[in-house]
Amino acid sequence: MRYLTLLAVLLSGCGTPRPDASGPVAGLETAAQYVGRETCGPCHVEQLRAWEGSDHDLAMQPATEDTVLGDFEDVTYTHHGVTSSFYERDGKFFVRTDGPGGELRDYEVAYTFGVRPLQQYLIELPGGRLQALGLCWDTRPAEQGGQRWFHLYPDEPIPHDDPLHWTGRNQNWNYMCAECHSTNLRKNYDLAQDRFDTTWSEIDVSCEACHGPGSGYKAMDVMKSREASVAAGLIIPDEALCKSCHVGAPHDQKPFDYAAATAAGVHQHKPKP
Ligand code: HEC
Ligand code: HEC
Ligand code: HEC
Ligand code: HEC
Repeated sequence: MRYLTLLAVLLSGCGTPRPDASGPVAGLETAAQYVGRETCGPCHVEQLRAWEGSDHDLAMQPATEDTVLGDFEDVTYTHHGVTSSFYERDGKFFVRTDGPGGELRDYEVAYTFGVRPLQQYLIELPGGRLQALGLCWDTRPAEQGGQRWFHLYPDEPIPHDDPLHWTGRNQNWNYMCAECHSTNLRKNYDLAQDRFDTTWSEIDVSCEACHGPGSGYKAMDVMKSREASVAAGLIIPDEALCKSCHVGAPHDQKPFDYAAATAAGVHQHKPKP
């Protein structure tokens, strides 16, 4: 079936899963500000170390030699007559593929998105838009069939005017993807200009995506009391909070089992060594 794919159930026109971009704490009566993990870290070294390198940490990253897992050594991939090429120049990563008008053009990869079992790539288009490329890298080991490029919609052509094309509405990061993969995401869409000025306080799923913005509770005298901390905005995350990202459109996440997901620790979630 057309919309059911390995990764994504992209329901056109469904809008965004959580209408308020301020994340899990939306609706809380507080003017709390996000302070960043460098504020939490010194007092919570153990949690910080556990979280570093976790899937939450890797949910979105600038494209660099260290973060890009795909093969960009002058390889090509053909999907229903469109041949795309992947290459690297001076530490930057490029794909030559069909653009908004269908013609082949060269695009620099701005960010990686997700990490396993596949990694996607975000490309900047005018209007402050980031778009998720339909060509993905299967990050599983070769023995398991991974280490290869594939297309999200393998069985059909996706022409440039299809909403499922990487330049289309359904692959628009600002609107469709961003708020579950980063912390304190603000879409900042300007209707009159048809532009996004999207911002985040941290690029990945960091401490305050689960624990709430920290300006009110970060002081030692507040933190020492759980009651006072919670009153000042600290969230003790529960299953429902996880599900605000782990269930729902636009893509078909794995079924979420809280006990299994936290069995190895609440901050770990790392690939097995
Ligand atoms: C000045 C030191 C300090 C800073 C900064 C700090 N904390 Fe804490 N935090 C503590 C102390 C002390 C406790 C209570 C004892 C403990 O569990 O370590 C605590 C407890 C917690 C708890 C457990 C609450 C409970 O009762 O289960 C969480 C969650 C937490 N902090 C998250 C954060 C986050 C997120 C940040 C950054 C936004 C942060 N803390 C910043 C010192 C700090
Ligand atoms: C702000 C959105 C968000 C919240 C809240 C969130 N997650 Fe995640 N989680 C993600 C994203 C995005 C990924 C995938 C990151 C990647 O692939 O790099 C992920 C990946 C994971 C993974 C590894 C992948 C997998 O399914 O095996 C586990 C386990 C996990 N999260 C557990 C939790 C638990 C437990 C909670 C609640 C305590 C939670 N998450 C809360 C967004 C979130
Ligand atoms: C409702 C929150 C949410 C939204 C919106 C969202 N994601 Fe995710 N994403 C997750 C979670 C949670 C995971 C990890 C757990 C899983 O895959 O089961 C994840 C994982 C991923 C992964 C890693 C591979 C995988 O399947 O685990 C990729 C790639 C990805 N997302 C891409 C996207 C793209 C592209 C969009 C926008 C079209 C998007 N995501 C929108 C929550 C979201
Ligand atoms: C994916 C969601 C998530 C993220 C991201 C996250 N935490 Fe937690 N954290 C939890 C959950 C769940 C608990 C356990 C809550 C409970 O007591 O039931 C927890 C507990 C804690 C505790 C209490 C002691 C412990 O280890 O159980 C501290 C302190 C803490 N977190 C700090 C942090 C800091 C600092 C960061 C960022 C480096 C962070 N957390 C990122 C979900 C998260």
